[in-house]
Amino acid sequence: MIYLGKIKVAGRLMLAPIAGYTDSPYRRIARRYGAGLVVTELISAEGVVRNNQKTLDLAVFHEEERPVAVQIFGNNPIIMAEAAVIIESLGPDIIDINMGCPARRICASGSGAALLLNPKKIYNIAESIVKRVRLPVSAKIRIGWDHSSLNYSDTIKALEDGGVSAVFVHGRTRAQQYGGSADWDIIRDIVLRSHGPIVGNGDISTYDEACKRMEYSGCQAVMIGRAALGNPWIFSGAKPSMEDVVKQIKQHLDLMLDFYGERGIMLMRKHFVRYIHAFKGAKHIRKDLVMAIDRDKIHGILDQLMDSDSN
Ligand SMILES: Cc1cc2nc3c(=O)[nH]c(=O)nc-3n(C[C@H](O)[C@H](O)[C@H](O)COP(=O)(O)O)c2cc1C
Repeated sequence: MIYLGKIKVAGRLMLAPIAGYTDSPYRRIARRYGAGLVVTELISAEGVVRNNQKTLDLAVFHEEERPVAVQIFGNNPIIMAEAAVIIESLGPDIIDINMGCPARRICASGSGAALLLNPKKIYNIAESIVKRVRLPVSAKIRIGWDHSSLNYSDTIKALEDGGVSAVFVHGRTRAQQYGGSADWDIIRDIVLRSHGPIVGNGDISTYDEACKRMEYSGCQAVMIGRAALGNPWIFSGAKPSMEDVVKQIKQHLDLMLDFYGERGIMLMRKHFVRYIHAFKGAKHIRKDLVMAIDRDKIHGILDQLMDSDSN
């Protein structure tokens, strides 16, 4: 049994937040396939405090997602704590603090991965949030700003002193963005040095790899991001048939239409591409799917795929 603070998570493989993809519909799907925890994409603490509707829309979740963490980003401890109180009133299971986003726009304001340069600020943010909410608080970090400043021990200490219940560690520096590879030796080192649960993250592409990474690093759990897009089966290790994939895409489309209305069709396109990428046997229908403009047309294309598979 794994606990993040008082929250019992549902499994050792979790869904990492991917802005623009891991929205409420996809988080529900990931939970159906066994993801132990799902996390919203990063949400602006300032936007929450200003009651910005677009920001608050990103914090909407469905009961089926539980346990679900809502992730906030920002730089000002007072505003972050204020936002955390508002988020808590929406009823999620965990509040997560983004300390890893490498985007220039985010880092320029001292948020996301820029916080890694300032352990005192990390402590202040963690402490002020933990003091104001009853929910467990976690943080998602990188191992440092760049390889000449691998100060993850200071980061972990600041977070632990600030009272966080768990740390999600993406094993890259900010300078690496998403290139190079995640350093699981460092993640292992962090597990040895820390007192609370550490969830490792970075470059896991299969269920077996997730198990190996956990064994190697000693992490209680791991998070999977990119490899989980179009491939929710990664959480169970199952190998889907064409029929499974077609059924899953149809189900996903319906969740998107329910959640977004007609806009769901357009927003589904990037997911089509991911499903097709993960399931090579369907490559030839990619273009047709992306061009289709209504549910019936999409069903038609998928049914044809099934027919051609059974011939
Ligand atoms: C397009 C994209 C968007 C992301 N958005 C977020 C985000 O909103 N919050 C966050 O903490 N991490 C975000 N990440 C980082 C992932 O959660 C994860 O740490 C990273 O992709 C490494 O894991 P992976 O190799 O399993 O994908 C994002 C990554 C990508 C590629």
